[in-house]
Amino acid sequence: MSDRGNFASKIGIILATAGSAVGLGNIWRFPVETGSHGGAAFILIYLACVCILGIPMMTAEFILGRRTHSNIATAYQQLAPRQPWYLTGYAGMLCVTLILSYYSVVAGWTLKYAMSALLTEMSSVTDTEAYFNDFSSSVWAPIAYTVSFLLITHVIIERGIERGIERFSKIMMPLLLLIMVVLVVGALSMPGAKEGLTFLLRPDFSKLSPDVILSALGQAFFSLSLAIGCLSTYASYFKNDVNLSRTALSVVSLDTLVAIMSGFIIFPAVFSVAGVAPDAGPGLVFITLPNIFSTVFASMPMLGYIFSLMFYVLLVLAALTSTISMHEEVTAFIHERYQLSRRRSAGIMTSVCIILGILCCLSYSSLRDFKPFFGMGFFDAFNYLTAKFIMPLSGIVLCLFVGWRMGRRNVREELSNHGALHIPDWMCGTFIFFLRWIAPLSIALIFINELGLF
Ligand code: PFF
Repeated sequence: MSDRGNFASKIGIILATAGSAVGLGNIWRFPVETGSHGGAAFILIYLACVCILGIPMMTAEFILGRRTHSNIATAYQQLAPRQPWYLTGYAGMLCVTLILSYYSVVAGWTLKYAMSALLTEMSSVTDTEAYFNDFSSSVWAPIAYTVSFLLITHVIIERGIERGIERFSKIMMPLLLLIMVVLVVGALSMPGAKEGLTFLLRPDFSKLSPDVILSALGQAFFSLSLAIGCLSTYASYFKNDVNLSRTALSVVSLDTLVAIMSGFIIFPAVFSVAGVAPDAGPGLVFITLPNIFSTVFASMPMLGYIFSLMFYVLLVLAALTSTISMHEEVTAFIHERYQLSRRRSAGIMTSVCIILGILCCLSYSSLRDFKPFFGMGFFDAFNYLTAKFIMPLSGIVLCLFVGWRMGRRNVREELSNHGALHIPDWMCGTFIFFLRWIAPLSIALIFINELGLF
């Protein structure tokens, strides 16, 4: 397509792609997982998963997207015409639509918290659990925040690749990193910094179990936005001189850096207040942290104001750079397949997500008792179906497709930019071996475990 657009600069590519990866998964889910799986030992396993699985799989997605310069469904169809591989592309689009719908609800909560930090409402809250429950179980406010979040995403997507996604990521990602550095420095000066750091840095290998290993694998998968077509859609806008494996390495490194830095923000804070356990669960960011901020900064309200405002703005930015990548995947498909304008295509995706997002919001209020999906409401069902089924299965198919179906010659051509880069034989061979065997087998293991089959 002549009007597809491209990312204009290499730094834009890295920041936009890292923006997709860096999100609530890093700043919210990673500390929760680390806290409930024993700290440093979990982090070590996570790092191993990211290197063994993350880098090759991300490179594989880049290969698929850049080779075809097409949306995810067309990419599979172009490389394997009249074969059912393309169904994975549709599954990926269904998956991002469902993820975007429930993710926008949580993103809406971060927007609400950023607003209430800004308007100093948060500093007067005494019971943070009741505050969160009252908000999330009300009908209109969560819907308003969710819809606002989706509309902000829509506006960025409508502006296109270079003027929308790339320009936005080039401003937001450096800002996000800057906020993180300030927050890390602030957190390290809190009274519980030493215990927090020990928890993060001193591994206790007695905590290791198959469950820890498999949770780390699952976390790596979600955090790197792997396997469901987001990254290959972004890679379809890469120019032909982009070094794919080096870009994957940079993106994975940035994503991991952000995850570890959020540990350096959250655990010193958590250990600063007596009686708060590091394994507080998903309420960590919306219930435990506001409580900690008000306790630790009781005598320094201005500092508390700045700290909590920066923290929730950070969450909003991180969520937004991820929501645009999910939105783009389906918008690109509608735009190219049905030849609709970008504005219309984005409008269709936004409308679908608003409807599904509202249903997810209502799972916490009016539809609380409506649980038609094996005892789950919309929010939990979307989360369950995507994380436990579609993501791992699409991941397996992606590895098999690039490893076996695309073949060594195509893969080598993409990795070496058609011979312009020197890629040693052993590197290409190892990469293909990982895609054919190690990655699909590891994912199959997570999949079986998550289903509780062993
Ligand atoms: N990687 C994002 C995060 O860590 O929050 C979430 C995500 C984005 C998952 C895009 C899947 C995806 F396709």
